[in-house]
Amino acid sequence: RLLIVDFGSQVTQLIARRLRELNVYCEIHPYQNVTAEFLRDFAPKAVILSGGPASVIDEGSPRPTADIFDLGVPILGICYGQQVMMQMLGGKVERGHGTAEFGRAYVTPARDRIDLLHGWFEADREQVWMSHGDHVSAIAPGFAVYGTSPNAPFAVTADLNRNFFAVQFHPEVHHTPNGARLYENFVRLAGFTGDWTMGAYRDEAIRKIREQVGDAKVICGLSGGVDSSVAAVLIHEAIGDQLTCVFVDHGLLRQGEAEEVVTMFRDHYNMPLIHADEQELFLGALDGQSDPETKRKIIGKLFIDVFQKHAGEVGGAEFLAQGTLYPDVIESVSFSGGPSVTIKSHHNVGGLPEKMGLKLVEPLRELFKDEVRELGRELGLPPSFIGRHPFPGPGLAIRCPGEITREKLEILRKADAVYIDQIRKHGLYDDIWQAFVAILPVRTVGVMGDGRTYDYACALRAVTSVDGMTADYYPFSHEFLGETATRIINEVTGINRVTYDITSKPPGTIEWE
Ligand code: XMP
Repeated sequence: RLLIVDFGSQVTQLIARRLRELNVYCEIHPYQNVTAEFLRDFAPKAVILSGGPASVIDEGSPRPTADIFDLGVPILGICYGQQVMMQMLGGKVERGHGTAEFGRAYVTPARDRIDLLHGWFEADREQVWMSHGDHVSAIAPGFAVYGTSPNAPFAVTADLNRNFFAVQFHPEVHHTPNGARLYENFVRLAGFTGDWTMGAYRDEAIRKIREQVGDAKVICGLSGGVDSSVAAVLIHEAIGDQLTCVFVDHGLLRQGEAEEVVTMFRDHYNMPLIHADEQELFLGALDGQSDPETKRKIIGKLFIDVFQKHAGEVGGAEFLAQGTLYPDVIESVSFSGGPSVTIKSHHNVGGLPEKMGLKLVEPLRELFKDEVRELGRELGLPPSFIGRHPFPGPGLAIRCPGEITREKLEILRKADAVYIDQIRKHGLYDDIWQAFVAILPVRTVGVMGDGRTYDYACALRAVTSVDGMTADYYPFSHEFLGETATRIINEVTGINRVTYDITSKPPGTIEWE
């Protein structure tokens, strides 16, 4: 296994992600924990020293134990990791005076190509992402320069006798397009064959959950979405009935959704599940409200109250489980050029852990959405469930602009079910990021049979997207749209007009509210 020594960079997890993509098992440990004794136990086959915000020049700046350089295994230092390595091995680091570098830079080869750079420089130079104030001014004995950039003469250095490598840039980020190749070369020369799997990740995650939780009780908010479901199944595998799930039905779910969740988790997985049927409470509070923000606030606040009430029934729980993903963790980090993601989970109940005095269990914290899906498959969740489109916490409330009534919700559920059925029948579901119907707060005139109708109009929405931040409308054929409109009008009493929303995001949003 590979050890990543963390010096606090906001992108350290991305190193782990790159290594998982190469099917290499790694663990991230904060540098303070990596003692000589730890190293003996862990026995890493290779080590990566991460970046970090500190300056090696400052007194007391983070430093790995010197024993790390006596392990006799390949080491790769990145950014701060590079500087700390150079300083500890006898080189020199200086503060940047006009040499600080942030953002895109280009590295060119300095001499013969080493194995680490296999596949690099095919186009003479490689784009890399720099983010450093200090710079190495003299390399350590035994090292030579293999790549250089205008502001970082020592962009890539190596001591080939010891298999020590050091790079000034961040190969793990998206803006170093060929960075994955560098990691691949590093793990190959360290002897990893890439045989690690998501199955192994699952075992490791289960071990960690057991270690963290002991024999305490855990509660988990289950929304029926992929993240909370995978988290719940994983934790249940780890600690069995010490886990109780709370599923809040706020009356704003889609057709058959509540039954599906309850059947799957209670009957199929045999999990202790509290089904909090609070439809009356939510719909009552929303009665007469048409302002989008007010609607959201009402739902958010009630959700916390209700969750707290039902979670309290468990008695003596010490932990709250959440399906927080890595993108939620780095959301505010604009390192790679913009907010990384995306969808706020309504069930990441902010403030609740403190309020209830609960500690958090977040077993998906290191994973990205596609990895969570893979873990879900590994745990045996049905493929149809894992591939489900995202569904917002406030549910159908934000697909029902204006006042919410039970009648409108019922019509909306039926129309949505027909639309999704159409999409599935045409084999389009997996090509689409999200598809749904919004019921509009207008009635329009129509003729059906011999009579006039005065019924609701609805809008179909379907978008493609990679992260929900930007989106484009899905280019259905006219035939598909025509057939779907006919089915909805024939099968759903209360709708006599169907439109298709062809707004992209931006300027539109995916949801209607
Ligand atoms: P918008 O409408 O902002 O949606 O383009 C982007 C993505 O976020 C989802 N969404 C929400 N999810 N609570 C959630 O849990 C919310 O309040 C919420 N609002 C939007 C939306 O479904 C889409 O995937």
